[in-house]
Order: sequence, then structure tokens, then C-alpha cells
Amino acid sequence: MSMIGAASDAPGLHEFEVMANEPVAEGVWHMRCHTPVASRIKPGQFVNIAVPGDGSHILRVPLSFSAADADQEVLELVYAVVGEGTQRLSNMRAGDTSTMVGPSGRGWWLPERAGRSLLVAGGVGLPPIVACARMLADAGRGFDVIVGAQTASRHVEYLLEELRRMPPAEGCDCARKVVVCTDDGSLGVHGFTTAAMADLIADRPFAQVYACGPAPMMAGVAALARKRDIACQTSLERMMGCGFGACSCCNVELSAGGYALCCKDGPVFDAMEVVW
Ligand SMILES: Cc1cc2nc3c(=O)[nH]c(=O)nc-3n(C[C@H](O)[C@H](O)[C@H](O)COP(=O)(O)OP(=O)(O)OC[C@H]3O[C@@H](n4cnc5c(N)ncnc54)[C@H](O)[C@@H]3O)c2cc1C
Ligand code: FES
Repeated sequence: MSMIGAASDAPGLHEFEVMANEPVAEGVWHMRCHTPVASRIKPGQFVNIAVPGDGSHILRVPLSFSAADADQEVLELVYAVVGEGTQRLSNMRAGDTSTMVGPSGRGWWLPERAGRSLLVAGGVGLPPIVACARMLADAGRGFDVIVGAQTASRHVEYLLEELRRMPPAEGCDCARKVVVCTDDGSLGVHGFTTAAMADLIADRPFAQVYACGPAPMMAGVAALARKRDIACQTSLERMMGCGFGACSCCNVELSAGGYALCCKDGPVFDAMEVVW
């Protein structure tokens, strides 16, 4: 696989080749691809994919990743089919090639305070949360996870299994909780992730919250964390044009005044820094 664009840690234009692309839940697909981006990308960063098949659709599709194997140069993406771009992405088959820009943006950082983290994922906010969990496990840090979906068939079971199997924190006798929620009660806890979070933070102390999901969920998570004085990182979504800071179409309003760019300054922001 060759690199077409910039060097070092700046996002560059890279080729990728699909290794496998399969449905893993209702309307949700898992793509494994071979790309040099996998050797440089950090948890919480994203790639911006050119989907072949329609010259009239020029915008790339921004996607976070759930896993990256730096040695084998394999990147794993999990995405919902919501419109034309992701529909055509789901039509790509093993051996098909295209390009992606990456690694893009600023990802998660390790907790500044010692102590357990709470990870909260809603819908297809799960892939970057799984990458975050691996970052914490690799650093020997403890965490619990809350994963929500509309209904049982939308849960990505293999990612839930990966979360359950990740090694526990060093010297921690506190078993990991992976709380599964559904809006309709068809699996796990009936209700939103924010209700499960309120229960869990009343039960266990946390030093850090990481969240990715629909905007109302993240606003609720940020408010709960703030009330308890728990640091909180959120991965935001915006419609993206260029994906590398050139078009100003992905503004995020800052609580201190002014705007940041989701594609360059984020997608991960300190929840206290943004206007909800
Ligand atoms: C940094 C980042 C990381 C993302 N990671 C993932 C991921 O890991 N998995 C995943 O399933 N999705 C992810 N998304 C969302 C994904 O990019 C959009 O679902 C996709 O671009 C839709 O393209 P489309 O052509 O299929 O749909 P379109 O036809 O363009 O739109 C269909 C619907 O999706 C909405 N939409 C389009 N683009 C976005 C966007 N950027 N953010 C929010 N809503 C959008 C539109 O408003 C419309 O309602 C991410 C978005 C960003 C910005
Ligand atoms: S998408 Fe162009 S500046 Fe962010």
C-alpha cells in the first residue's frame, strides 16, 4: 500500500484495500482493510474515506476506528448504513481499493487523575469507545462501560465481547462492568445510557468519563459528569467537508467564546470546553 500525501503525523492521502466487509448487526457493517494509516492512527482519531462508485458524490465519509494493528497495517471500521455514501461503502468487497485521508484529528488522552474511567457509547459511537477501552487496558487503567442501542438487533455483539475480554487493571480487584442498554428493553437494561450512568456513578467512584454517541446523549453525560466533578472527554460529530481544517464547515462552539474545528481540534473535546 502506498502513501500518496503528507508525511509524519499530519493526515495524508493513503490507498486502502478491503480485506472483509460484513454486516454485524441490523444496518451496521464491519470492514477490515489494509492501509498504512493503521500504523500511525491513535484511539479517537478518524479517517475520511473516498467511496468509489458515484462521481457526483464528492464528499468523503468520516469514520472512527475500533481497532488498528500497526504491524499488519490492518484497520477495523464499524459503520451504520444511513445514506448513499455508507450504502456504497457496504457494497465494497474483498480486494476492492480506494483512498482515505488520515490519521485525522485529535483523539482520546489518558486520564489526568488516577482512578477508574467510565466509558459511555450510544449506537455507532461504540467503535471509538472500543479503541479508547484498548488504550486504557494497554496502560493498565481500570474502566467500566455502558453501551446503548435502540434495540437488541442493533447491538454489535462481537464488540461487546471484546470489551468483556479486555484485561483488568493491574492490582484491581474490582470486576469490570459492561452494562448493555436498549431504548425498548429488548436486551439488558431498559432505558437510556444516561440513566444507567446515573446509577453507576452513584455506586462507584470515577476519575474520568469518555463518551461518544448521539448529541443529546453526550450532553446528558457531560451534565452528569460535571455535577459530580468528574473529568469528561466527548467525541463530537459534525458534517464534514474537507476533513482537515480548510473549509470551516465543522464548527464547534466553545464555552470560552469562539469556535474550534471538529476535524482538526477534535473530534475529541473536553466536555467542559464546548457549548452543549
Ligand atoms: C469524526 C467522525 C467519526 C465518525 N465515526 C463513525 C463511525 O465510526 N461509525 C459510523 O457509523 N458513523 C460514524 N460517523 C458518521 C458518518 O460519517 C456518517 O454517518 C456518514 O458520513 C453518512 O454518510 P452517507 O453518505 O451515508 O449519508 P448522507 O446521505 O450524507 O446522510 C445521511 C444522514 O446522515 C447524516 N450525516 C451525514 N454525515 C454526517 C456526519 N458527519 N455526522 C453526523 N451525521 C451525518 C445526514 O444528516 C443524514 O441525516 C462519524 C462522523 C464523524 C464526523
Ligand atoms: S471539515 Fe473542513 S474545516 Fe473541518
